[in-house]
Amino acid sequence: MISWSRTDRNDGNMSINILLVASEVVGFAKTGGLADVAGSLPSALARRGLRAAVILPLYRSARRANVEPTEIVVEVQVGHRLVPARLWRTSLPDGATAYLVENDDYFGRDDASQGRGIYQYTLPDGSKRDYEDNCERFVFFNRAVAEFLPYLDSWPQIVHVNDWQTGLIPVYLRELYAARDDRYGRIATMMTIHNIAFQGFYWSYDYPMTGLPWSLFTYDRLEFYGGYSFLKAGIVYSDLVTTVSPTYAREIQTPDYGRAFHPILYQRRERLYGIVNGVDYTQWNPVTDKYIPANYGPDDLSGKLVCKRALRRELKLSDAGAPPLFGMVARLTDQKGVDLIAAIAPQMLERGWQIAILGDGDPHHHRTFEALRSRYPERLGLRLGFDESLAHRIEAGSDAYLMPSAFEPSGLNQLYSLRYGTPPLVRRTGGLADTVTDTNAQTLADGKATGFSFTRYSPEELWNTVERAEALWRHSPEAWKQVMITGMTQDWSWDRSAADYDKLYRRLVQAK
Ligand code: ADP
Ligand code: GLC
Repeated sequence: MISWSRTDRNDGNMSINILLVASEVVGFAKTGGLADVAGSLPSALARRGLRAAVILPLYRSARRANVEPTEIVVEVQVGHRLVPARLWRTSLPDGATAYLVENDDYFGRDDASQGRGIYQYTLPDGSKRDYEDNCERFVFFNRAVAEFLPYLDSWPQIVHVNDWQTGLIPVYLRELYAARDDRYGRIATMMTIHNIAFQGFYWSYDYPMTGLPWSLFTYDRLEFYGGYSFLKAGIVYSDLVTTVSPTYAREIQTPDYGRAFHPILYQRRERLYGIVNGVDYTQWNPVTDKYIPANYGPDDLSGKLVCKRALRRELKLSDAGAPPLFGMVARLTDQKGVDLIAAIAPQMLERGWQIAILGDGDPHHHRTFEALRSRYPERLGLRLGFDESLAHRIEAGSDAYLMPSAFEPSGLNQLYSLRYGTPPLVRRTGGLADTVTDTNAQTLADGKATGFSFTRYSPEELWNTVERAEALWRHSPEAWKQVMITGMTQDWSWDRSAADYDKLYRRLVQAK
């Protein structure tokens, strides 16, 4: 479905100026892969000679980074109120600029020690709730971005928004700001959908807060099932829509995966593209990783065993025998296939195999794994919470990686696992289908096998896959090593993905 051919000219030297907008960026605030993408893509684009900057809210957590206030303060209309916003700035490691939007009432409340995140807070029973004013917080952020454009180092030709938290920006540019200043009308817009499950859906009584006219509250614009959706706004108003893998781009046009957006996306399929995320190998590379006890690479795997032993000690797993160790780092939500893992974990642990889980998410998943840990304390290593450095040690210290997602727009952890020589076990969906090659006689002979995959979402299929992987690991160490090395030497870097974004940006600018 992806064809560049129609209007592509190779204007290699055309310098393009892009402003990425995201609600999280690694180094400042992170709940998942969106932060990794928003942190890596600007630098990867800069390496290709494009000018890219990123803008995000100044959360409390972001103040720990090396950020500085500017003198630029604007007033942002939110409903009938004018709310102040100050622009802050800093540089990303490779020199691209990150701008941050300050308003402490909206974005100064996150505090992990109090269970308050950037979108959600924790109730006494451990469950998480969205902040009641999320609609207002992100209306403010979206309008603040539009207000700040004249004050940035350079005027963007493309504004590239990400997920629902940024979905109103293309609407503001076209419907409110273009009339004030025609430079706004010349901006091309792109929206990337990282997860269609998060839609930014609010009721009609929250609509006046946006400052947008009721004439846009129609089924073909912002209205969605009686309310309105930031995500729909972004899809409808952006010049191009992308998502984070070709398979997910196809899946979300179907009722099974589209979460009620499939008709809208199917209608726009000519303008819908899928680009798999990349890996920041300066952060995720066992040869140089600072978080792991021993470095290793495809030429010398000995450090991996050191990492496995250290991980077993860190998670208080038994040191006896040589059982396989399966790792997982994820938001513990239904998306990640956690119920499948919970269903087969007792069988795995009964066999003496070990599992290491790092995650944060739904309390009922937490309770399931806590119960399992008290039954098998020496076989199930569990850390509930967010821990960047342990994530690296699990990738390095595990023999294989579990990622049986119900849906997975792109997925990064399977890509990290490939690089760390930890073959991923995945369900064949979204980005997992596009990045992991199942191991069988043919793919082994072709030198293509990198992991293990299955199709039907069921505990039996996952169990069969885990058994298949364990059998190869135990009985065919040479074949296992080949699978590891094939994965470790693949290139899933951002440079590859950035080349695809580059093509789309050029098309956008030419078309505008
Ligand atoms: P998603 O964005 O759906 O959560 P991805 O695979 O794209 O899934 O990215 C998840 C990112 O978040 C990875 O960088 C992963 O290592 C990280 N991550 C998820 N949960 C945790 C956690 N509990 N502690 C540390 N890192 C985590
Ligand atoms: C989403 C998806 C994940 C993807 C990430 C970054 O959170 O769940 O698959 O890798 O966004 O695009």
